[in-house]
Amino acid sequence: MQRLICVIGNKGGTGKTTITHVLCHGLGLLGWRAIAILTDSQRQPLSKQGRRYVPVDGREPEVLDKIVAKLETTPDWLAVIDGGGNRPALDRQFYEMSGMALLPFRDSPEDMRTVMDDLDAFPNAYALPSQWPTNPWQQLAAERSVDDMMLTYRTRILDPVYTVSASKQLLQIQMPSALPNALNNMSRSLAWRVLQKMGLPRHAEPPHTAPNR
Ligand SMILES: Nc1ncnc2c1ncn2[C@@H]1O[C@H](COP(=O)(O)OP(=O)(O)OP(=O)(O)O)[C@@H](O)[C@H]1O
Ligand SMILES: [Mg+2]
Repeated sequence: MQRLICVIGNKGGTGKTTITHVLCHGLGLLGWRAIAILTDSQRQPLSKQGRRYVPVDGREPEVLDKIVAKLETTPDWLAVIDGGGNRPALDRQFYEMSGMALLPFRDSPEDMRTVMDDLDAFPNAYALPSQWPTNPWQQLAAERSVDDMMLTYRTRILDPVYTVSASKQLLQIQMPSALPNALNNMSRSLAWRVLQKMGLPRHAEPPHTAPNR
């Protein structure tokens, strides 16, 4: 399904859940209707209230099938699967059903080694630097490590998602009513970049904010 995105990767704790919600929030801000699909049995479903997207508990396989069927008939919807670490068979399944696959990795040699294996296993996936340092010196060092370790994958690495401590607010079961600008900007920017890579417009037709909808 073209409008299905999966956020996967074998390593735990790389930022899959955070990126799923940041991306869905950003898609909402850009006028798309987005669904964040929970697939991790270790996590609790989040409340829909106050969000610009719909979190769905997708831990039963039928739910995923229903969402894919819904996407087929609703061109202004996108869905994002939040994978879980250490589940290679499920990662393969999500990759094969999605139009776009994102592989978050942090600035660590272990994350980079794992994401390179994942890039080999999933040839159409993109690596997404996650929790990236905002301090200029640390950033330079992180970029150097990527250049040293991942040079041959350069064209498959997207611009980073930076560390923004407010991102955890999106993961609260009940989201706060207002979110800081830094988080909104980061979300919009990630959503815009992913839409561009997928060849989708910034606003679906009709846009999310259209009156009487
Ligand atoms: N961009 C970010 N800025 C600040 N903190 C972040 C960011 N991304 C992730 N984190 C923090 O890093 C931790 C791990 O992130 P997250 O839960 O999203 O990873 P995950 O890949 O989903 O983990 P798991 O493999 O357990 O599912 C969390 O505490 C989260 O708040
Ligand atoms: Mg997670």
